[in-house]
Amino acid sequence: MYRTHTCGELRIADAGKTVTLAGWVQRARDLGGMTFVDLRDRFGITQLSFNMEREQALCAQARELGREFVVQATGTVRERESKNKHIPTGEIELIVTELKVLNAAKTPPFTIEEETDGGDELRMKYRYLDLRRPNIREHFELRHRMAIEVRNYLSGQRFLEVETPVLIKSTPEGARDFVVPSRMNLGEFYALPQSPQTFKQLLMVSGFDRYFQIVKCFRDEDLRADRQPEFTQIDCEMAFVEQEDVLNTFEGMAKHLFKAIHGLEFNEPFPRMSFDEAMADYGCDKPDLRFGMKFQELNALVHGEGFKVFDDAELVVGINAEGCAGWSRKQTDALIEFVKRPQIGASGIVFLKWTEEGSKSTVDKFFGPEQLEGWAKHCGMKQGDLLCIMAGRTDKVRKQLNELRLHLGDLLGLRDPKVFRPLWVVDFPLLEFDVENKRWHAMHHPFTAPKPADAHKLESDPGSVKANAYDLVINGTEIGGGSIRIHDRTMQEAMFRVLGFTDEEARYKFGFLLDAFEFGAPPHGGCAFGFDRWVALFGHRTDIREFIAFPKNNSGRDVMIDAPSRIDAEQLQELQISVEGSA
Ligand code: AMO
Repeated sequence: MYRTHTCGELRIADAGKTVTLAGWVQRARDLGGMTFVDLRDRFGITQLSFNMEREQALCAQARELGREFVVQATGTVRERESKNKHIPTGEIELIVTELKVLNAAKTPPFTIEEETDGGDELRMKYRYLDLRRPNIREHFELRHRMAIEVRNYLSGQRFLEVETPVLIKSTPEGARDFVVPSRMNLGEFYALPQSPQTFKQLLMVSGFDRYFQIVKCFRDEDLRADRQPEFTQIDCEMAFVEQEDVLNTFEGMAKHLFKAIHGLEFNEPFPRMSFDEAMADYGCDKPDLRFGMKFQELNALVHGEGFKVFDDAELVVGINAEGCAGWSRKQTDALIEFVKRPQIGASGIVFLKWTEEGSKSTVDKFFGPEQLEGWAKHCGMKQGDLLCIMAGRTDKVRKQLNELRLHLGDLLGLRDPKVFRPLWVVDFPLLEFDVENKRWHAMHHPFTAPKPADAHKLESDPGSVKANAYDLVINGTEIGGGSIRIHDRTMQEAMFRVLGFTDEEARYKFGFLLDAFEFGAPPHGGCAFGFDRWVALFGHRTDIREFIAFPKNNSGRDVMIDAPSRIDAEQLQELQISVEGSA
């Protein structure tokens, strides 16, 4: 037996027992007469104690231990003289009588403690060492607990967990596919699923009624803190439902998770906001509701006074930064610099300060005190506030002011990661126009149904059609999304036409689904949640890589195993693929 207890288990009540522990040497301290070793495993840290006077050979052996050596120690549990209140085993120590080195270790490339000196790239290269750090390990304990709670909840609601294939045909979700060449079908490729969308719909045709899967999805897209090329969804589908049924079921799941993981009760229904409202009030479809600073449109109050920036603008809109009237010129200049960065691309900000001396703006030349007071009143300003105004083309200005709002939220400490503000965004447009390619794209995916009242406009006025599509947004992060689906062949064919597919293309790509709709497809709908994002949010972080055991870096590389990599000439030949410069 390697051990009788774990390193997180022993307490004062165990004093006097003879036990054996196994683990990694976190650190060794040689105090002359005594040597102490902190022994770590997944469950905690226990202090090993070696007495030079009593056990010289053993003590000498302990002094030889390096960081991260794997050892086994047998001894007697004893109450400590100087207790450590910070750890659960801090009242005891193990007086070691036998020590065995199970495996030596090289000095690790960074310190394996809560605070490490390792940079990002180094930690990822030696991710297996990084995962030894207790605070990182906790992320995976959280992930595990959440997966169990999801399964418990959905199983209780009579959902069946069904696995769908990974080697499939393209399921478009707006990204590029990762493809896999087929040796047995030369010149042909599988695509890895961007989501199991079509399969879960087919399971509804099969009469499975309620399906879910905690499943890997693959998308070849630009990476960010909340995006990985392979990530995990909680994917769900239900038959015989309307939007309201889906929202209620998954609001129930979200509330169950809030309660089970954080002990939080949400007694009220989650707020709902239409897509149009979200865009007008917050400039984005995933507003962070932990703080206010709602957009205030100023068009009617500012046009026609000779200030060209406002006169030429399609939208003039402001946000009120409460209590910021006292900000220095340096501070407001920094805001301007922030919005002028190429990623945001704005030309500037007009400020209106309301101080004890009255209102003062950067455009006093064009607008008199009464007009400025009008703006202040319209925007709900109080003395001490600072109004930040931006102007330009509606879609651009909304995006830019949204960035400024979030930045101000950060600067003012209004985005506390321990506070959760969930929101359903509903009534998304079915389609959006891609100006560059002059074609319509499905805003969610091509299987989303138009709202019944708008269905007749699908081909005549696609831009005005709304969908029963919805997103769950928490703290400004899109945690999940879904829709009521098309379940009728004629409607699905019309949708493909609007998206620019010829009938032939539609049949080639999605004939199996169109066919299935002719064999008794029930009305159905569902959604999928980004599991990595949800875990990160519950772990009060924004970078999902911290919650993925072996993530990819921003260039899509796994720097630990060094993938992607070249394959041998033989393999390429078998697949009849020629690659320039291949070995
Ligand atoms: P959607 O594309 O909105 O919907 O994806 C669902 C959720 O998955 C998460 N997500 C990601 N997480 C990490 N990295 C990524 N690259 C990534 N891409 C998406 C987001 C998102 O809300 N089939 C539909 C769902 C449906 O209609 O039922 C779908 O996949 O949190």
